[in-house]
Amino acid sequence: MDSPILQVHYKPHIPAKTDYGIGIIGCGGIVNYGHLPAYKAHHLNILACYDIHQEAAQKTAQDHGIPKVYASMDELLADETIDIVDIAVQPWAQPEIAVKALQAGKHLLCQKPLAVSYEDALIIAETAQRAGRKVAVNQQMRWDAGIAAAKDLISRGFIGQPTDAQIQVSATTPWHMWPWLAQSPRLEVQYHSIHYLDAMRYLFGDPDWITSRHTKYPLQKAKAESKTVTVFDYASGMQVLVAVNHYDESGDNYAIFRFLGTEGVIKGTIGLLYNYPTGRPDTLQAHSKTFAPDLWFDVKLEGLWVPDAFIGPMASLMEAIQTDGTPVTSIEDNLNTLRVVDACYISATENRSVRLCDVDQSC
Ligand SMILES: NC(=O)c1ccc[n+]([C@@H]2O[C@H](COP(=O)([O-])OP(=O)(O)OC[C@H]3O[C@@H](n4cnc5c(N)ncnc54)[C@H](O)[C@@H]3O)[C@@H](O)[C@H]2O)c1
Repeated sequence: MDSPILQVHYKPHIPAKTDYGIGIIGCGGIVNYGHLPAYKAHHLNILACYDIHQEAAQKTAQDHGIPKVYASMDELLADETIDIVDIAVQPWAQPEIAVKALQAGKHLLCQKPLAVSYEDALIIAETAQRAGRKVAVNQQMRWDAGIAAAKDLISRGFIGQPTDAQIQVSATTPWHMWPWLAQSPRLEVQYHSIHYLDAMRYLFGDPDWITSRHTKYPLQKAKAESKTVTVFDYASGMQVLVAVNHYDESGDNYAIFRFLGTEGVIKGTIGLLYNYPTGRPDTLQAHSKTFAPDLWFDVKLEGLWVPDAFIGPMASLMEAIQTDGTPVTSIEDNLNTLRVVDACYISATENRSVRLCDVDQSC
């Protein structure tokens, strides 16, 4: 049931100025089916693109009407009409590009994971600070309709004090879309659950303890973990569970979230994962003893995690540039998402619970 008394604000905030010149570095899958469809829907000003594989850049330019293809990164960075560089290369290539782009005076939108190591990510952060430029990271799940709606409701006190949160995914993931992941020493947490871990941090803050268990599917070809369970513990007693399985061949896949508090509950589905990458809209149902004790709200949501949520990080970066503010997924914030990811691997490898400060030995 759609209720007139439950207004939920989940659509991305679009700032007053959106005509910044954008140059894209890396013209692979996600740029073509994620970034560019979202930018086009909001009439952003894409000026140029570049890829080490010229034909990838040419095809992307042709498919999306991008006026200029550069033959080198340096030429793109020298283009003074480009204000924002949008990087979407594999993570081991990102730090060098990011540092050069910052030194050329550009603001950046980087892909997740920001870097393969926390140390490399710190180098980008320090360069950004020295250059006085804004950097956002493409953790666009924060703008996925279900997560953004839950954020709005939780911050308005709809479920009271949060006590338990779960994201559980059991899917058949088309790994062939990312052949470069097959040999990666890290897989599920670093490249997929990073979105859920970041979303949980966004909704509930940084955990005090992280416990993570990783394993593989018996028939998988990829080298690293594909089934993981991660628990966050908070001093308040709040607990978070992220449980993900990429090899569910049962035909009964699911991708659910459930956020419980002292006054109510929000639950729903992550529609994209029901038929990836085609997907369907998220669903969300909510109940609050304080808002309406006799009602369950069924909130109708529009848009998909991919591509629609991709406008979120770019719009937030643009807002930060024009207000001299901080993007929602700023590089400083993202360093803690990377610390959570590293904590998961330390936990799984050493069979113990880990604090964030264990990751950089700051405690
Ligand atoms: N935010 C999300 O939801 C999301 C989803 C998918 C992928 N990603 C991330 O986006 C990045 C790219 O993923 P993808 O699936 O598009 O991969 P992809 O392999 O399809 O594309 C990567 C592109 O980068 C180009 N490239 C590599 N090194 C380069 C360099 N030094 N200079 C210029 N171009 C270079 C490659 O030639 C390729 O065209 C990865 O880091 C991945 O983790 C994020």
